[in-house]
Amino acid sequence: MSSTRFLTGITTTGTPHLGNFVGSIRPSVAASRTPGVQSFYFLADYHALIKCEDPARIQRSTLEIAASWLAAGLDPERVVFYRQSDIPEIPELCWLLTCVTGKGVLNRAHAYKAAGDKNAAAGRDADEGVTAGLFMYPVLMGADILMFKAHKVPVGRDQIQHIEMARDMAASFNHLYGEHFVLPEAVIDDNVATLPGLDGRKMSKSYDNTIPLFSSRAQLQKLIGGILTDSRAPGEPKEVEGSALFQIYQAFATEAETAALRQQYAEGIAWGDAKQLLLERVDQVVAPMRAHYEELLQNPARIEQTLLAGADRARALATPFIREVRSAVGLRSLVQVAAAPKPAKASKAALPAFKQYREADGQFYFKLVAADGRLLLQSTGFAAPKEAGQAIAKLQKEGVSALTSLADRLLPLEGVGTPEVAAALQALAEAV
Ligand code: TRP
Repeated sequence: MSSTRFLTGITTTGTPHLGNFVGSIRPSVAASRTPGVQSFYFLADYHALIKCEDPARIQRSTLEIAASWLAAGLDPERVVFYRQSDIPEIPELCWLLTCVTGKGVLNRAHAYKAAGDKNAAAGRDADEGVTAGLFMYPVLMGADILMFKAHKVPVGRDQIQHIEMARDMAASFNHLYGEHFVLPEAVIDDNVATLPGLDGRKMSKSYDNTIPLFSSRAQLQKLIGGILTDSRAPGEPKEVEGSALFQIYQAFATEAETAALRQQYAEGIAWGDAKQLLLERVDQVVAPMRAHYEELLQNPARIEQTLLAGADRARALATPFIREVRSAVGLRSLVQVAAAPKPAKASKAALPAFKQYREADGQFYFKLVAADGRLLLQSTGFAAPKEAGQAIAKLQKEGVSALTSLADRLLPLEGVGTPEVAAALQALAEAV
């Protein structure tokens, strides 16, 4: 079994702030060093176009975000680090997935729905200012993920729905065209802190309460000076609970340092002194990265080269894979002999199932239903639910060989052969 593949995208809008560092950059860089893990990190610049129509900002933000990740220690030799728009196979796959995605599914996507609700609340037409790009966002994201057969996708909670949609696209495609895609799973790291911003709410660009990761020391000092505190005077004990200052400190300090600050809060440290401690602690982490970051920004050609090298590695996988998938749907040479579709492997999304139920006659029954809904086994009535359960257990344990002893408990079904039943029981056994 090959290693687990992690993949995540970073939308290239804006400049990274301390919250992005703590919540995403730092844990991702650490995770990319885990043995047995293969990581794909990419700059989602096609996604950025949905939110930003300023070409200079798109370009600048791509540069700054790439530089931030590299400055934070991402090793482009270990990780496949690339720019989404350098992989033309991604929008190509996006179309193939579009054709297996229900429109109704996309209607329910949170971001699209929120835009419509906002319009409705303001008394506007639901679609006003809503691009088809926003509507299609989850499909593009599905293409990002499925292209590289990612098993795990580390994301924030707000993205879980998108990963589930990608899973459904993969399952639908596999069902129609044979087993080509891996079904991805979201990974949510609950240990990663959400950083509060200057005003105590979650640090977020949309609240305008951020501290940019690569502020100069002077800027950092000014911003930290503006963190909201209560009005307790020096000498008065202070609460760590709900203190944005304390929480930011904690995200950058060791446990011992955090415990020491907690103690100083109890002893009534002046807010000014606490802010000074925070400045020093954050700067200690940021300063070495800042130097590297400035150096990278001075040298965009080097970053460009790094990204193109990453794209080469990514395309070494994407180019043959899109060929396979195109062929699977029938986009292929007219002289090519159609390959038999790869049999769909039993997946969690589509497994046969035993169903137990009681009929109006008061008796207890079970049936085995195939992944596609076809009836494979139908029992006769049992006096007690326990007996039906025992018959199921026997089938689960012994597979088709149990059919002989259960023969008088099962109704003959037209068009269902033993091999099919065997395959279903096998699939169920493998799934546990
Ligand atoms: N939509 C993600 C976000 O805003 C970014 C993203 C794009 C992504 N494509 C992806 C994340 C694929 C994970 C996998 O955070």
